Amino acid sequence: MTNPPPLARPIRELPDELISQIAAGEVIERPSSVLRELLDNALDAGASQIHVRLRAGGVRLISVEDNGSGIAPEQLSVALKRHATSKISNLQDLESVSTMGFRGEALAAIASVSDLSLTSRTAHQTHAMTLQARTGELIPAAREVGTTVEVQDLFFNTPARRKFLKTDATELAHCVDSVRRHALARPDVGFSIWHEGKNIAQWRAHSGPEAIRLRLADVLGESFVTEAVRVNHRAGPLRVHGFAGTPDAARARADHQFAYVNGRFVRDKVIGHGVRSAYDDVLHGQRQAVYLLFIDMDPARVDVNVHPTKIEVRFRDSREVHQAVRTAVDNALALPRLGQSAAPAPVDKAFTPETPVRTASWPQARLDWSLGHRVAELDVLWGQPRPFPDTGGQHPTGAQPLASSRAEPFAPLDSLAQPLPDRENQAKAAPTDWPLGRALAQLQGIYILAENHLGLIVVDMHAAHERVVYERLKGQWDGQGIECQALLIPAPFQASPQEVDCAESHPEVLHRLGLELSVLSPTSLAVRSVPNTLAQGDPVALARSVLEELQSHGATQVLARARNETLATMACHSAVRANRRLTLDEMNALLRQMEATERADQCNHGRPTWRQISVAELDALFMRGR
Ligand SMILES: Nc1ncnc2c1ncn2[C@@H]1O[C@H](COP(=O)(O)OP(=O)(O)OP(=O)(O)O)[C@@H](O)[C@H]1O
Ligand SMILES: [Mg+2]
Repeated sequence: MTNPPPLARPIRELPDELISQIAAGEVIERPSSVLRELLDNALDAGASQIHVRLRAGGVRLISVEDNGSGIAPEQLSVALKRHATSKISNLQDLESVSTMGFRGEALAAIASVSDLSLTSRTAHQTHAMTLQARTGELIPAAREVGTTVEVQDLFFNTPARRKFLKTDATELAHCVDSVRRHALARPDVGFSIWHEGKNIAQWRAHSGPEAIRLRLADVLGESFVTEAVRVNHRAGPLRVHGFAGTPDAARARADHQFAYVNGRFVRDKVIGHGVRSAYDDVLHGQRQAVYLLFIDMDPARVDVNVHPTKIEVRFRDSREVHQAVRTAVDNALALPRLGQSAAPAPVDKAFTPETPVRTASWPQARLDWSLGHRVAELDVLWGQPRPFPDTGGQHPTGAQPLASSRAEPFAPLDSLAQPLPDRENQAKAAPTDWPLGRALAQLQGIYILAENHLGLIVVDMHAAHERVVYERLKGQWDGQGIECQALLIPAPFQASPQEVDCAESHPEVLHRLGLELSVLSPTSLAVRSVPNTLAQGDPVALARSVLEELQSHGATQVLARARNETLATMACHSAVRANRRLTLDEMNALLRQMEATERADQCNHGRPTWRQISVAELDALFMRGR
């Protein structure tokens, strides 16, 4: 027996109210989405001051008051209609949209899920008018030119939606985020936020070239600015500008990442990936970079009409955007941040209530001079005769911790230090002639102390040297390939069968990394050549670390990772170790190398390599000048 065919149900047009509610489902998720739409509208109306008032995290009330152009009384009801907009009128407009809004949907959607009123006055009116969306009632009101939109009891008529709202505190936090995003894009507009009658944020309008810097400090704190570098890059029709946080400003969460396309806050994979790849070799692990980036481009090259909340966009040429973002951030991070004071100030706050921290930046000309002035290769640092090759008998697995703090003998290196070509000048130079100053002493076998025009410089010698070596290896890898050098006496070592197997199977990978190993027996290998940059390091430790990489990641992966991880590991094992006593010449050589090396401000793990302690901070410590 077959079932009877199902009855066709009649097709009906949905009532307008329901259409709007369905649309609202996409556009309005929570109070902060209402706020986003209202702020967009206020900015599109040319407001220079916006006041936001909230109650119960925005669930009971969201009010946005602006001093923009206003809406004429006869247009108030049109503004609330679906698909009614003053911002575009044809397809061409849509394809080159320069306003935040363009669909004519937001107010209708919000009005369908809340109790909305619109109060507005244009420059031509003597008083304002208020329209109650629910009743259609239009009554006179008092206010200056501009518009106030009041949204009460969000989702009162859609209980299912209301149930998804979180606590008032959470909703409030989302609302503040929403205002923040707008405020960061528009430093020329003043913003205030009130919750339950209390002022919780007040950001006054700024103008001039420093406006964005000032707004950034207002919204995210002064530390965001002091721990960030300026980004400014032009690539054909594209401009990328803003700020990129230094690696030591990175956070556990990705909550300080702001990207804007033509002034619109977006969450975009292409941009995100571009930024991440720029941080690749300064930020290892799970740390999240902080950044504020503006990407300005011809509106015709980006489609903003792809997502209901407009938070996603589609680029006509996403490779172009990726490349521009990556280069912009990469260039910014590569420049040394010389002349900046340590942040946070390493001095007890109690001593320094009003001591200004000197942050005068290093004169550009001097910086250029320093960067262009490459000093002798730093081989003097390894000038000590290599310890006799480690036969490693006690480590049959080869798993000896390579970064062991095995103290190097305090051998005086004077006899080995080659005079630097500019040694003469160096002796005569005032301490201020170099951004990182003149070396004074070594502390605890770990730090180099130096003096520059701002005060004291403290350098983590291993971290700094590691960076210098790593950058040099990377340069070779990107260029002609890693240059290798045969050892005078091959260095034999005890190896596990896996290590031997690995060395036998991948001679070409090892070769590309500048290493040549030969098999002596089923349980021993010998290092025959090493990268010439690492020639004075411990060849056995180096070989072991590379074999370990090869075993855990495989040959293809190791080559793919080479530029970031593998070379960094190699540099780490070959950099000057703690407790190596350095002469002043060697310390100065390292400082000059740092000045000439890109990204020398942090080690390969994102930790800083040097800090400035200003004279002001020292004065404060000793309570001088009171
Ligand atoms: N604060 C305001 N000041 C002046 N005019 C406003 C304001 N808010 C809304 N309007 C007017 O009301 C119209 C409808 O606003 P609505 O937000 O619904 O649509 P839209 O901004 O044009 O497009 P979208 O749906 O993409 O936001 C706007 O086009 C604008 O003319
Ligand atoms: Mg709008």
